[in-house]
Amino acid sequence: MPTTTPEPPRAAITGLATYVPARVVTNADLARTLDTSDEWIVTRTGIRERRAGAPGETTATMGGAALRRLLAARQLGPDDLEALIVATVTPDMVFPATACLIQDDLGLRNTWGFDLSAACSGFLYALTAGAQLVVSGAHRRVVVIGADLMSAIIDPLDRTTAVLFGDGAGAVLLERAEPGHGLLDFFHRVDGSGRHDLHMPAGGSLRPASAETVAGRQHFLRQNGRVVFKFAVTQMAECVETLLSRNGLSPADVAMVVPHQANQRILDATADRLGLPHDRMATVLARYGNTTAATLPLALEDAVLAGRIRRGDLVVLVAVGAGFTVGATLLRWQ
Ligand code: ACO
Repeated sequence: MPTTTPEPPRAAITGLATYVPARVVTNADLARTLDTSDEWIVTRTGIRERRAGAPGETTATMGGAALRRLLAARQLGPDDLEALIVATVTPDMVFPATACLIQDDLGLRNTWGFDLSAACSGFLYALTAGAQLVVSGAHRRVVVIGADLMSAIIDPLDRTTAVLFGDGAGAVLLERAEPGHGLLDFFHRVDGSGRHDLHMPAGGSLRPASAETVAGRQHFLRQNGRVVFKFAVTQMAECVETLLSRNGLSPADVAMVVPHQANQRILDATADRLGLPHDRMATVLARYGNTTAATLPLALEDAVLAGRIRRGDLVVLVAVGAGFTVGATLLRWQ
C-alpha cells in the first residue's frame, strides 16, 4: 500500500482587522510648518497622507481597537484568546508591556502575552512566534498585533523623517490551518551592524532620559535614509528569492507580495529585481505612510478586501526595518 507523508501541522491567519486614527495629515498640511512640498514627498516616497492619533490615543488603544474589530468579525468573546503578541517600537511605556494593557482594557481573562521589538519587521517576527504556539498544540487561538503611534517619536522639526511616518494598528488571529493552507515557511535574519542607521538615541539604559537628551532631541527617531534605502532595496528582493527558491517556487507563482511600506521607490525597485509586475506588489503607502509594525496588516487587509488575494493564493510578506531586521514569510491564503 502506498504511504503518504502526513502534512506537518501549520498555523493560518483566520481573521484580520485594522484601525487607523480619524485625523488625516496631508503633505500640504506638513508643508505649512516644514521646508517641504507635496511634490517632493510624492516623487521621493509615494506618500500623500498619513494618520495621526488624537490626544489620548496610544499604541494600546489603537491595537485594542483593531482587536475589538477582529473579535466582532469572528464572533469571539474576550475569553476565547490564549495568547497575544504585540509588535511595536512605540509601547505606551517601557513597561508594563502593551500586551498587558490591551489584555486589561479588553478583559481578556484567559490570555497571556508580551511585546516584541523588531521595528518594521516586528509584525512578521511576531507572526512567526505566534504560529509556533499554534503549531506546537500549546494554544488554539493566538492574536498578533502590529501597532505603532509613530507620531510619538517623530521629530516634527525634522523634514527628513516627519513626512515619512504615520499611526495605525492591525490584528490577526492565528489558528490551526486547513490542509495545504497557512504559513508555509519563513526566512528571518538580523544584522545589528545597522544599529546606528535607524534608531532612537536616548531613553534606554545606554542614555537614560536627562535634560541633555531632551535638549538634544534624542528621544526622536533618527534615520540615515540613503543607507537604509540601499539596504532595503537589496535585502527585500534577496529575502523573497531565498524563501521562494528553497520552496521550489519563483515569483511567477506568487499572487501577491505584501511588503513593508516605507517608500514606493523601494517597492518598485524590489518588484523590478524580482521580475514581478508592479500591480502584484501591495501598496497603501499613499494613504498611510510608514506605520512601522502596522504596515503589513494594513496592506494585507487592503489587498484581501480588493479581491487581489483569494483563498488558495500564494502570498509572500516581506519586511526590512531598524536593527537591521529582515524577514519574509510564505503562506497560502485560507
Ligand atoms: N522635503 C524636501 N526636501 C527634503 C526632504 C523633505 N521632506 N527630506 C530630505 N530632503 C532633501 C535633503 O535635505 C537633500 O537635500 P540636499 O541634496 O540639499 O542635501 C535632498 O532632499 C535629498 O535627500 P536624500 O536623503 O538623498 O533623499 P532620498 O531620495 O534618499 O529620500 C528618504 C530620502 C525618503 C528618507 C529615502 O532615503 C528612504 O526612503 N529611505 C528608506 C526609509 C526606510 O526604508 N526605512 C525603513 C523602515 S523604517 C523602521 O524600521 C522604523
